[in-house]
Order: sequence, then structure tokens, then C-alpha cells
Amino acid sequence: MPIPTIEWVDGRIHLIDQTLLPNEFKQIYCDDVESVWEAIKSLRVRGAPAIGIAGALGAVLGIWKSKATNYPDFAAELKKVTDYLATSRPTAVNLFWALTRIEQTAEKHKDLEIEQLKGVLLDEAQNIIEEDRARCRAIGQHGLNLLRNGDTILTHCNAGGLATSDYGTALAVMFSAHESGKNISVYADETRPLLQGARLTAWELMQAGIDVTLICDNMAAQVMKEGKIQCAIVGADRIAANGDTANKIGTYNVAILAKVHDIPFYVAAPTSTLDLSLKTGDLIPIEQRAAEEVTEGFGSRTAPEGVKVYSPAFDVTPAHLITAIITEKGIAHPPYEESLASQGD
Ligand code: MRU
Repeated sequence: MPIPTIEWVDGRIHLIDQTLLPNEFKQIYCDDVESVWEAIKSLRVRGAPAIGIAGALGAVLGIWKSKATNYPDFAAELKKVTDYLATSRPTAVNLFWALTRIEQTAEKHKDLEIEQLKGVLLDEAQNIIEEDRARCRAIGQHGLNLLRNGDTILTHCNAGGLATSDYGTALAVMFSAHESGKNISVYADETRPLLQGARLTAWELMQAGIDVTLICDNMAAQVMKEGKIQCAIVGADRIAANGDTANKIGTYNVAILAKVHDIPFYVAAPTSTLDLSLKTGDLIPIEQRAAEEVTEGFGSRTAPEGVKVYSPAFDVTPAHLITAIITEKGIAHPPYEESLASQGD
């Protein structure tokens, strides 16, 4: 990324407004917690790790001007802020993970002066960013070994630098392979309805000089049948203890197609995306999005007025369709109950 996806600058949050890409590369500023909530909800900042970072920085922003003079009042204010941010989007567990980390840090340092405590919480949010950077690089290094020179990879949605602190998860594997001199190519699903694949993944890969071909989501089967794809790599929003994985709607389709065509299907995610408290993916909350995103996603009406719309933003790929899960700690293979248990964050 030429500039960070999201950062704290002098008491406010700067973030790349991803709804404007690829036409406009613009940073916006959040001065209050309401604008952070809105930025998450409307996908100005998106992708599980980046949502987590926005949550952590948003929590700090929410208490930054607190006038509380004692810890109980401060903690009550912080709780109000974290509860509010937690209502922005339900599926990516990174959001709840990051909010909990900020709350726990406050509790741990409750004996500090309030002004000092604010600084400690900001440091913790910055730690989350730095850790994410390191995790993404490690994912890239581990995943790199799964790719051979000349491979073509199919990916869905955007699990790149824009979705994280800066290097991505699924795309980290591709960036690392490319940087290590492997000649790889990528097919990017456009990813209906909001086109994260077309607008963001294609843009990121082109910026990195990686050969990328855009396809509509419904072309993946044909492309696989033509023998063009050697593996699929996607990101994740939440991974249950048994390996079932929630990711952008349409990921499950890709996994089924990969199985039918005998193509390895990999998930790449940091351990902050694991939710080992959930036994299976059936328990993962799936966000429902507004009908207008399907009927007039980019300003022009593409369906009759009044038509009924169903728009889940994520689906859950069953673990049995996943060849391996790449985290910063290494490559987890089935059975995931065992291999993920030792990777818990
Ligand atoms: O709705 P989005 O754009 O936030 O969905 C993003 C995805 O599904 C990503 O694949 C996932 O969050 C992983 S990002 C490293």
C-alpha cells in the first residue's frame, strides 16, 4: 500500500475509503466513534483484520476525550463505545477479538491515571496493527511453499493489503510467491454484489505487477474445467473450531467447484480470525445486507422496483472442502479440531 489502510494520526483515524476504489484513491478522516461505525458498516474499511483494527482504534477514539476522573466511570464509557462498535458488522470475529483486547487492557491497567490509561489503550491498538503486519508476512512465507512456479491461483473477494494492516492474507501468499521470483498468475472473481474482487483485488495485484485476469463469479467453473487453475486461495472472516470457514458470499461455491475439479482449496487467515469457542460453522452469525446493494449497487437500477431480495454477505465453507488453512503459525491440515486447537490466539 502506498499509504496505510488505516492509521491513527494526531487524535483521529485516517483510512483509505475503499468504496471509492479503483476510481479514486482517497483517505478520509474519522473524528468520532460514529464515523468509525459508519465506515465499517458501509465498507469504507473492510476485510476481517482491518475491521478489527478499525474497532480497536475506534474504541480508543471513543474514549480519547473522556472527562472521567475515576476508573469505574471510564470503564463504563469504554464499554458503551465497544458495545456500540460491536453492532457495526457481525461476522468477522476480529472485530470482537480486538474490542475485547482493548477492554482487557483497560482492566489490567485500571490503577493508572485516566490520561495515562488512554495512552496505554492507544499503544495496545498500535500493537494490534504491528502484530497484524507480522502475521500477514508470516502467512505469506508459509503459504509460498504451496505454490509452484507457473501456477495460476483463483481468489474470491479481497484478502489483500486493503483488508488488513498492509500485506493481506490470501494475497500475502501471492505477493510472497511473486517477490520470491515465482512466476504466478491470478484469476480474480469479481465478487458480487459489491465487487471487492474487481475493484480491490484486481487493483492491488496490478499495483504489485502480478498477472491478474478478472472473471465474473459465474465463470469460475468453466475456467477450472479448462484447466487454467492450479489452486484456490481465499481469506476468512471467522473460522470455527472444526475448520468450517465463513468468508465472502460465493466462497462456498468456489470450494465446491474446486472439489469437483480436484483443485486444492486453501484458506489464509491470521489466528485472530479463529473462533475456537464455536464448535462448527453453523454457529457463525451471517450478516444480511441491504437489498439496494443487489438491485442498485452502483447507482443504476438493475432489478424491478419492489422485487424481493435475499442478501447474505457471507457463507460458510464446510471444513471437508478445505485442503489446508494457512495461518501465521504454519499450515493446518485436517482434522482441524486438532490442528487449529494448537494455534489458538
Ligand atoms: O464484506 P467484506 O468486504 O468485509 O468481506 C471481506 C472478506 O470476505 C475477506 O475475504 C475476509 O474478510 C478476509 S480479509 C483478509
